[in-house]
Amino acid sequence: MSKHRRFLIAGNWKMNGLQAALDNIVVVADRLAATPPRECAVLICPPATLVADAARRAGESLDIGAQDCHPAAKGAHTGDISAQMIADAGARYVIVGHSERRADHGETDGEVRAKAQAAIDAGLTPIVCVGETLAEREADETLEIVGAQLRGSVPVGESAVVVAYEPVWAIGTGLTPTAEQIAQTHTAIRAILSEMRRDAASVKILYGGSMKPDNAAEILAIANVDGGLIGGASLDPQSFLKIVAAGESAG
Ligand code: PGA
Repeated sequence: MSKHRRFLIAGNWKMNGLQAALDNIVVVADRLAATPPRECAVLICPPATLVADAARRAGESLDIGAQDCHPAAKGAHTGDISAQMIADAGARYVIVGHSERRADHGETDGEVRAKAQAAIDAGLTPIVCVGETLAEREADETLEIVGAQLRGSVPVGESAVVVAYEPVWAIGTGLTPTAEQIAQTHTAIRAILSEMRRDAASVKILYGGSMKPDNAAEILAIANVDGGLIGGASLDPQSFLKIVAAGESAG
């Protein structure tokens, strides 16, 4: 039986990929065009330098997104990129509030929400990231931390948003929470979203953090997991496509 929300399988290339990596966009797009997934929408978020070319080369079967945007529409913000520029480059999504940006750039929940709102205003779907650190997990504060991040970072209203639950300690480490821990957190996220938004039942909640071809099917089968945000394993087109295939069979 199909889950009622189609999966979103999203690759986050982070600060990886020179011009030659556009070939990997084409490999993924061609495969999806040849065998269109029924249960998954597929997205790749390359670095900003590749977004426009990636969007041109991806065709209809693969969506392209960016990894961050500025909250303002335009102005004197040297080095920043607005959501409108990202949309103008042909992207449809933007990741906001990734834990690496929260840590490296001190982004607060309020800034993340402003970025997500800017994305919505530009016609993009924001992917708002939340997740606890290892110390917070060990102190049994996961639901409290994630709840506060959601309330502070996710815009209210009814414009489409995606939430990504990414435990900081699982990102790039090869560690993942147990299926029970993922189920508990995703179910709590759904409950908090329903206090915030009338469309909570249809908001996609992605899991991210060391999702790979060999654990994707198990993770995607968990209740309230509507897809994945995949870092390392999205850099190799074949391993990324295997995760899409896992979504096809788990859907
Ligand atoms: P990872 O990264 O899959 O390499 O753990 C996930 C992310 O940070 O989005």
